[in-house]
Amino acid sequence: MKKLFGAAVLLLAAAVATAQEPKPAAQAAPAGNAETGATLWRNVGCWQCHGYEAQGGAAGPRLSGRNLPWTGFSAYVRRPANQMPLYTEKVLPTTDLAHIYAYVQSRPAPAQNVPLLQK
Ligand code: HEC
Repeated sequence: MKKLFGAAVLLLAAAVATAQEPKPAAQAAPAGNAETGATLWRNVGCWQCHGYEAQGGAAGPRLSGRNLPWTGFSAYVRRPANQMPLYTEKVLPTTDLAHIYAYVQSRPAPAQNVPLLQK
């Protein structure tokens, strides 16, 4: 009986320890180079829908200036949910995607509060 109780305590302790493990933080983007990314952006064809500056267009939403986290960005490219074509690791290796991500991150948000445009 005592042994059983001991085992139960151990199990409980293990359960508590597991529950307290910190959640994995959002994955940091692998190092990318924005200039290399700009070339890839054009060669791979992201621009066709998202625009040369990732500013968005008729066929794809704006990606610039949104500070999309790497985790969601890369996940979407690998498993698009709607109209965007799928890019597999074979077609677009993650190292290249990281360059593209760096390029998109380097694009500024659209200008706002331009007085001349507000009249
Ligand atoms: C044929 C058009 C097309 C091409 C080419 C394309 N996309 Fe997209 N993309 C879309 C559309 C449309 C959406 C909006 C969601 C949907 O319909 O799938 C989208 C959404 C995204 C999103 C999610 C944005 C969000 O709001 O979370 C990311 C990230 C993205 N695209 C990255 C890329 C990258 C990187 C490339 C090039 C490797 C690329 N796209 C090429 C059309 C395209």
